[in-house]
Amino acid sequence: MPFSHPADALWQGAGIATMQPGGQPYGAIEDGALAISGGHIAWVGERQNLPPGLIGPATRIHDGAGRWITPSLIDCHTHIVFADNRAAEFEARLGGQSYEEAARQGGGILSTVRATRGASEAELVAAATPRLARLIAEGVRTVEIKSGYGLTLESELTMLRAARALGRAQNMEVRTSFLGAHAVPPEFAGRADAYVDHIIADMLPALAAENLADAVDAFAETIAFSTPQVIRLFEAAHRHGLPVKLHADQLTDGGGARLAAHFGALSADHLEYTSPDGARAMARAGTVAVLLPGAYATVGATQPPPVAEFRAHGVGMAVATDCNPGSSPMCSLLMAANLACALFRLTPEEALAGITRQAARALGLSARLGTLEAGKEASFVVWKIGHPRELAYWMGGVSPESVVTP
Ligand code: NIG
Ligand code: FE
Repeated sequence: MPFSHPADALWQGAGIATMQPGGQPYGAIEDGALAISGGHIAWVGERQNLPPGLIGPATRIHDGAGRWITPSLIDCHTHIVFADNRAAEFEARLGGQSYEEAARQGGGILSTVRATRGASEAELVAAATPRLARLIAEGVRTVEIKSGYGLTLESELTMLRAARALGRAQNMEVRTSFLGAHAVPPEFAGRADAYVDHIIADMLPALAAENLADAVDAFAETIAFSTPQVIRLFEAAHRHGLPVKLHADQLTDGGGARLAAHFGALSADHLEYTSPDGARAMARAGTVAVLLPGAYATVGATQPPPVAEFRAHGVGMAVATDCNPGSSPMCSLLMAANLACALFRLTPEEALAGITRQAARALGLSARLGTLEAGKEASFVVWKIGHPRELAYWMGGVSPESVVTP
C-alpha cells in the first residue's frame, strides 16, 4: 500500500525489537525501518519492504546501522515520592532485624510516613526528581507512582499532586495509584477497619474529585490489610470507576493473587508466595504479575515468585523497580530487568517484555504503548548495542543513544 503522506521521520538499518509476541524472539526485525508521523508510528517492518510514498522531501532520515530500537521503557510499580530514607533500617536488617519486625516496632513504612507528612508538595517533588532522573536516563518514559506514605487525606493528596507535578515537570507520562491502604497509620492503631472506612468515605471521593488517581492499590499482608478490608476498598474503587492493583503474597500466602484476580485487577505485584491456584486465577482474569526483584533482594527473601507457574498458565510477567526507601531503594529499571533474570530466572526476552509490553498492560496502556507497531505512540529508544538481550545482561549502566517521544 503506497502512503499518501510521507512520514515526518524514518529510522532505517537498525535492528528493531518491536516486542510484539508470536513471531521472532523480541519481535525482532534485523534490518528494519520505522517511520513516524504526527507522534505516532506510521510504519514498521523490514527495510526492504518499505512502502512507496513513505519518504518525502521533508522526511528526516536517521541511519540506524549498528543500533537497536526498542519501545521506551515503562516502570509500572514505584513509590518514588517519599521523604528521607531508611538506610539505618537496612543496616539493622543486616544485623538480624527482619522487615516485618521493623514494621511491627513502628519503623518500616511508618517511619517514612512520619518524614513524608512533614514535607510539602514542592519538597516531595524536589526529593523525587533525582530518582526519577535516573530512570529517565535509562529510557524510561512512563512511570507509575504510588501514594501511601501520607495516610491522612491531606498528605495522600499532597503525594498524588507531587506525582502529577513530576509528570508535568519531566514531560513524561506518570500514572498514579492511590495506596492509602499501605499501612495502618498511628492514629488508627488497632482500628484498621475504621481506617478503611475513612479511606472509603473521605479519601477516595476527594482524590477522585481532583482526578488524582488512575488506580487504587493496597497492601494485603498480615502486617497490613486483611482480605475483607481489601474487598471493601476494591468495591469502593470500582464504584468510582477506578481499576485496582494489589501488593499480594509478598511475605506470606494470603490468597492475594486470587483476590486481585477476582476484582479483575490490572496487576498483582510481588507474588513470592502465590499458590498455583492463584496463578491460574490471574491467568483467567488477565491480571499481570509484576515481579519486583529489588524488594526480594533487599528484604532478604528466599522464595522466588512462581515464574514457572506463570509461564505455564500464560500469566504475563512485568518487571519493575518498586523504587521505595524500605524494601527496594533502586532507581534502575535495567538493573531490575537484570535481577529478574539472575534471581527469578526470567529469560532476557521475558525481562525486556516485562519493562515494555507487559508493563504497559499492567498500567492499562497497551493500546498506545509497550510495543512498536503502526498506530501506537512514537515513544522509543535507540541503543548502541549488538543485541536486545544486552539490556538485561548488563547490570544496569546502559544508556540510550537517543530517546524519541511523541
Ligand atoms: O512494595 N510491600 C509494601 N510496600 C512497599 C514497601 C514500602 C516500604 O517498605 O516503604 C513494597 O515493597
Ligand atoms: Fe510496592
